[in-house]
Amino acid sequence: MSNKFPVDRALFDDVMVPNYAPSAVIPVRGKGSRVWDQNDNELIDFAGGIAVNCLGHCHPALVGALKEQGEKIWHLSNVMTNEPALRLAKKLVDNTFAEKVYFANSGAESNEAALKLARRWALDVHGEDKTQIIAFKQGFHGRTFFTVTVGGQAAYSDGFGPKPGDVVHAEYNNLESLKALISDKTCAVMMEPLQGEGGIVSPTDEFAKGVRELCDQHNALLIFDEVQTGVGRLGTLYAYEGLGVTPDILTTAKALGGGFPIGAMLTTTELAKHLKIGTHGSTYGGNPLACAVGEAAFDTVNTPEVLNGVTEKAKIYVDGLNAINAKYDVFKEIRGKGLLIGAVLKDEYQGRAKDFLVAAMAEGVMTLVAGANIVRFAPSLVIPNEDITEGLARFEKAVAKIAQ
Ligand SMILES: Cc1ncc(COP(=O)(O)O)c(C=O)c1O
Repeated sequence: MSNKFPVDRALFDDVMVPNYAPSAVIPVRGKGSRVWDQNDNELIDFAGGIAVNCLGHCHPALVGALKEQGEKIWHLSNVMTNEPALRLAKKLVDNTFAEKVYFANSGAESNEAALKLARRWALDVHGEDKTQIIAFKQGFHGRTFFTVTVGGQAAYSDGFGPKPGDVVHAEYNNLESLKALISDKTCAVMMEPLQGEGGIVSPTDEFAKGVRELCDQHNALLIFDEVQTGVGRLGTLYAYEGLGVTPDILTTAKALGGGFPIGAMLTTTELAKHLKIGTHGSTYGGNPLACAVGEAAFDTVNTPEVLNGVTEKAKIYVDGLNAINAKYDVFKEIRGKGLLIGAVLKDEYQGRAKDFLVAAMAEGVMTLVAGANIVRFAPSLVIPNEDITEGLARFEKAVAKIAQ
């Protein structure tokens, strides 16, 4: 590093916009599921950068792809196409329901593209009145103004002036609530096939299938936001496969780049044609570095070994968390699917998920929360089993400190 000066947490408050409240610990390097801070303290990573680092830190396949592409070509603009983008798109098409891909840089941007496509399709095919977007309470779709408005927590979208219109919210896992809102004026229903930020809530099979049927009855598109659930996290490449429900549009980001920013919207040829030349775009969408890393991540995750490993590793977590709970009685439920796991705090510990996260960090294990009452785990899909065991032992020490 040139021009060195001390970097510490206090500098954040001096120079950064105060929209985040980061930990005092500043990690400087990582390998697999272990991370080291500025003082060389070692941490086990159960957070995965919020379901991003699907192959841990500095996976050799990803480092290799980044280095190789870094010495070839970095950026071209969408006036040109590039080989890594087309290679990754081909793999996404070959391995999913989709026939066409649009690249973005984040989850929110992928969702923005999905929502704009749905609105444009509805206008082209059904006319001006079919604009309603239905999403679900507690859902999360990103922080652009359209996606945060579609997200199911008004607190995140309030206070920025007039919101994009014709967006309403139904109850997740409640078909009657969706039925009461949906009509032929509904353009699209957007949902996560397992609510992540909203509390690790799985849809029932009946709900997922029912949403699809209602969309079909009313000629509405079904958009699955797989930004958090995608790329192997639930043990299938995408969660829709496990549900047996195929969306019309699917968005993917986070793990798609294994830590390098990239997102994508996947859809059918029939729908894709409504995003005609000039209707949408992004300077960095399809960037060669991002797509080269994305292809390496995709190839590494999309193997029976890694995908089946997710289910095996999930069992070690669930068994371990249940064993901790048998001793300390702090959780009322361990839920989720694959390696997206939520430990729901008992009523006596309401609002204290962050305390568990902070205590776990002090014991040397990074965790996440999903709201105020749930401790969330979204580790690397290839975390070594001994790191899970060691991390859970550290987590148990944290639980012991908090348990009454
Ligand atoms: C389901 C879901 N959609 C969208 C987003 C937003 O993604 P990004 O922060 O990359 O814009 C997230 C982020 O947590 C998410 O979990």
